[in-house]
Amino acid sequence: MTEFKRVAVIGTGTMGPGMGATLARIGIDVAMYDVSAEALERAKGMVGMAEGVLDRLEAPSAPGGSVSYHDDLAAALEGRDMVLEAIPERLELKHEIFKQFEQHCAPDTVLASNTSGIPITAIAEVCDHPERVIGNHWSNPPHLIPMIEVIPGEKTSQEVLERTCTLVREIGYHPVVEKEVPGFVENRVLYAIMRECLDLVDRGIVSPEALDLNVRWGIGYKLAVIGPMALLDMAGMDIYNAVGSYLNKDLCNRDDVSSTIQDLIAEGRLGMKTGGGLFDYTPEQIDELRKQRAAAFVTVRKAIEASDAKAG
Ligand SMILES: NC(=O)c1ccc[n+]([C@@H]2O[C@H](COP(=O)([O-])OP(=O)(O)OC[C@H]3O[C@@H](n4cnc5c(N)ncnc54)[C@H](O)[C@@H]3O)[C@@H](O)[C@H]2O)c1
Repeated sequence: MTEFKRVAVIGTGTMGPGMGATLARIGIDVAMYDVSAEALERAKGMVGMAEGVLDRLEAPSAPGGSVSYHDDLAAALEGRDMVLEAIPERLELKHEIFKQFEQHCAPDTVLASNTSGIPITAIAEVCDHPERVIGNHWSNPPHLIPMIEVIPGEKTSQEVLERTCTLVREIGYHPVVEKEVPGFVENRVLYAIMRECLDLVDRGIVSPEALDLNVRWGIGYKLAVIGPMALLDMAGMDIYNAVGSYLNKDLCNRDDVSSTIQDLIAEGRLGMKTGGGLFDYTPEQIDELRKQRAAAFVTVRKAIEASDAKAG
């Protein structure tokens, strides 16, 4: 059982509830706090849904866990041995809340941020004890994607890094330790893929529908089974070198954001949350897609985990 027995999750928007449910499942007493009463109320339903998914995944579990909801920060932080921050991605907000963490927590409470890419060293610069500040970047949906980027800042202690990785393993996830780099590794790779995909669509080389089919069944399916480094070994360096020598020069390297995205934003088409983006959705379709995708994630994760376990 984890040495972290009492964890606070601060911010219960998109990410907080799934993180809280995953931690509670391995026996942790989780306190959730949000400045918005509405977000806190909505989190209760989201935690319930995440718990259902974790059951279907047959994710690691231990008795004694619980989730409580607080509208008072000091009460949520009292006696916690770890705090997981998931408030909006703005450095000034993170600074403000980390200063409050230090006021209400013991000096050895681990302070982790779910930031998507703000340097941990920059977050920790307002802290008296920067050695216990660490990045703990969960992927969305957090109760489904079993990989967490663990990013030490310049002053993070080795002990805090090791304890954080142990917790990640205990929830059945893979900790991936990285040095600080803008966007961290996952988003750098994702955004490199997105830039090329959008460029191909912008130039009319392929339709959005056909692009998705290509990527899902081409590199998507393949990469879920074989990581890119292992894929290089499978293909052979000579092949990669031969193709990369002419293709790398032709790949998109624009440093602004695709005109397709800019145009959609100008039309108010932000995606599912506005009923449409690149594709159109009715509310019923959105409901159906969410269920179908959650079920597919469960099936695929279980299949890959079973295959990995067999391979040792
Ligand atoms: N959404 C994603 O896909 C995703 C994935 C990985 C990491 N992240 C990162 O996780 C963090 C949270 O992202 P999100 O998508 O859950 O954001 P969100 O906007 O959905 O939720 C943030 C919540 O924080 C609350 N909040 C704002 N200020 C607060 C404060 N001072 N104290 C307590 N609560 C406060 C808001 O009311 C809101 O409910 C960000 O740093 C983001 O970059 C997001």
